[in-house]
Amino acid sequence: MTSNETLFETCLSDVRGDEGALIIAGWPLAELVAKHDYAAAAALLWRPFYPWSAPEISAALGQARARLWPLLQSRRALFADLSPLAAQRLALELCPDRAEAPVLTQLTEQVAALGLGLVLQQGAQALQPDATAEHVSDLLRLWRGQAPSTAEIQALSRYLVCVSEHGLNASTFTARVIAATASDLASALIGALGALKGPLHGGAPGPVLDMLDAIAAPENARAWAEAELAAGRRLMGFGHRIYRQRDPRADVLKQALQDLQQQHASEDLRRAEAIERILLQVLAAHKPTRALQTNVEYYTALLLHALGIEREAFTAVFALGRALGWSAHVFEQQATGRLIRPAAVYTGPLPR
Ligand code: ACO
Repeated sequence: MTSNETLFETCLSDVRGDEGALIIAGWPLAELVAKHDYAAAAALLWRPFYPWSAPEISAALGQARARLWPLLQSRRALFADLSPLAAQRLALELCPDRAEAPVLTQLTEQVAALGLGLVLQQGAQALQPDATAEHVSDLLRLWRGQAPSTAEIQALSRYLVCVSEHGLNASTFTARVIAATASDLASALIGALGALKGPLHGGAPGPVLDMLDAIAAPENARAWAEAELAAGRRLMGFGHRIYRQRDPRADVLKQALQDLQQQHASEDLRRAEAIERILLQVLAAHKPTRALQTNVEYYTALLLHALGIEREAFTAVFALGRALGWSAHVFEQQATGRLIRPAAVYTGPLPR
């Protein structure tokens, strides 16, 4: 198998690496993000398989939060010492087996579990879910212990919709491999979380912030980056297997960050832009034949940081968005009914 070999057909998204464009469920990324909240994006991604409307999904997510909360909260001591991703895995494990329930009930319960597991791991537990509220705003309220501002809800929603789906990336492929064995949705989501964790995939935004802290000021960026590359390390938030142009998600997230910070133009953003320009120059000189551009994780780090989210939780927040795409791919894989079983070329010793 070559590195980008086509394995499947999908109706979910088209990652156009040469153009630097992304189409999700028929929508250009920027338009999708501008016009859809979390439940509406879920409706678009799940529609080829189940005809649920956005209000139906929003209501089901609300009921799932209200149903799951007492169950997960009664085990809250278990969440305290876990990492954010481990807390999400635990919440999925603790979801009751509802094999007889409608698919929407099972699915929204597991999507809600990812959010509530993270909320409990962060220590918030004073409030009760509001089953009538919009999902992202209610999760933020539970997490913070107080109502978030409209700008914060909008920024987090735009982030989650922006990262909701992205072709056959490593975590989505993992989810499809698990679904193809006729295993259950929770197992596919748990497997996908494991693949997302790595810094070559969804684990990069925390290290992006570490990198910006280490560089501190644009005038240090060139020397710092050259030393990193000379030591054989990679610059986090740059490069992509498919995009040969700038990752279109970077600018959508940068816009979301600018809108969030409209009131108090951010020094952090100006510094990050200046550092980004220098790092791109250093990467171009380092690998002139390979277009190493800014990827989604660079502005993810800045946006989630501006929302007051700790860097250790960045990948788990990413998972809240990507869970929409993972589950859609599980449905798409289930519809094929085919086991995924690639072959490897044997290069070991031959029998004597
Ligand atoms: N910094 C420095 N060098 C880089 C970088 C980078 N960020 N990215 C790629 N390169 C170099 C590699 O060292 C390699 O050099 P070599 O040919 O001398 O060995 C060359 O460019 C090609 O690298 P590959 O690993 O083949 O590129 P690939 O397409 O497999 O990598 C990846 C994609 C893993 C994202 C890579 O660019 C990377 O490690 N980036 C940093 C981590 C990061 O930002 N991850 C988030 C990705 S976005 C997401 O998954 C949500």
